[in-house]
Amino acid sequence: MRNVYLIGFSGAGKSTLAAALARARRMATRDLDAEIASEAGMPIPEIFAQEGERGFRARESAALRRVASCSGTVIATGGGAIIDPENREAMLATGWVVWLDADDETLLRRVRRQAERQADGGGRPLLAVDDPLARIRELKLSREPHYARAHIRIDTTGRSVAETVRALCAELDRLEGASGARAHKRMPVRVGGKVLGRDRPLTCVPLVGASVKSMLEQAALAARLAPDLVELRVDHVLDADESSLTHLLSGTAGLGVPMLLTNRRQQEGGAREQGEQARLALLRSGIASGSLSAFDIELATVPAEREQLIELGLRHGVPAIVSFHDFNAVPNDVALDSILQAMVASGASVAKLAVTPRDPADVARLLRWCRAESDRPGMMPLIVLGMGPYGLVTRLAGHLAGSALTYAATEATSGSAPGQPAVTELRTAWEALGIASSDERERHAVI
Ligand code: S3P
Repeated sequence: MRNVYLIGFSGAGKSTLAAALARARRMATRDLDAEIASEAGMPIPEIFAQEGERGFRARESAALRRVASCSGTVIATGGGAIIDPENREAMLATGWVVWLDADDETLLRRVRRQAERQADGGGRPLLAVDDPLARIRELKLSREPHYARAHIRIDTTGRSVAETVRALCAELDRLEGASGARAHKRMPVRVGGKVLGRDRPLTCVPLVGASVKSMLEQAALAARLAPDLVELRVDHVLDADESSLTHLLSGTAGLGVPMLLTNRRQQEGGAREQGEQARLALLRSGIASGSLSAFDIELATVPAEREQLIELGLRHGVPAIVSFHDFNAVPNDVALDSILQAMVASGASVAKLAVTPRDPADVARLLRWCRAESDRPGMMPLIVLGMGPYGLVTRLAGHLAGSALTYAATEATSGSAPGQPAVTELRTAWEALGIASSDERERHAVI
């Protein structure tokens, strides 16, 4: 049975809710900070004073490794435990991760109330500053991208313990039943007469024009290359708003090429800074337009927002490709597994992982992982891509390892990610390797 990890800022209610949730679900419970203090034989502020934050973090990682080896346990973590990537991946791999959130004033009020009650002043050395509210804002902001990897986010502001536990149990029940139930809801991604995951290899051409006008020019060029799918990377369009998107979608509708809408967040390779709400609003209006074959949504999008979009897509018949990007490395296999697990639980129809091999061994490992996962019965279609120079082979021949789609640019200079070949280069390589596109196979098929 998976653990449940409660993460979130000091004052979010992790320790209180861990005990209450464990009671409600008849699970064991452990408190990471309490274990660190008891193992060190001193309270947390003293560990900070004697060993610094580094010393504390080392103890925290060791404690997390210990608790991650148990199962069926609700674990209250410390507010900063999520910063360390190994801690993060261990939690995501061995349990459901729940982000407990609250507004800044509520967090401060709760921390102060505890400080008044406890002899050690509440044990929050990081908040022992002149302006704790500003400190909360600053630390929260820097940690939010990590908190956002959680499977569930619950806002505890103004909610009682009992209410929060009820909401939490409903979410956990949904997640636990999700993999099976959601598989039924999964929609095939049909592009023209083909289906992603069934017909291979398929090609998607991303468009990266800085204006609707240049997008439309690129779209006309792309259509001549007869790709299976065209990706509208609207994060590249400087004046992207709902009316320019409508213009773009009506302008591309006549080309007869299936369209994928992507509005990439900047942290994962997006071309411009945009408010998260504006970013999601554009996706929402694209989904409702009736002009799309699919849309892309990052796994790192706040889960509630991500799920709303996926549901909206299901209602409008527009399947979601849930994506993850790492521009520095190929995460280890445990991390890849946990990313995919979260993608399956998200209810999306296709999973896309674009990562960066740093040597040939990374390439081999990535392809082997893709083969094993795409062969799993009931697995949704996977798009697995290596970026950068070592990744090229995965872009040319990833379909041999089960990857459903490859991205190729209209011209050598117009790619949307590192190492993307041009369509002509891709086709030359396929010819040289004796690989037929799914179109050619169809043409030559014997009936
Ligand atoms: C910390 C939060 C504390 C404790 C330590 C560091 C943090 O836990 O682990 O003081 O980095 O936010 P709580 O979140 O329970 O306050």
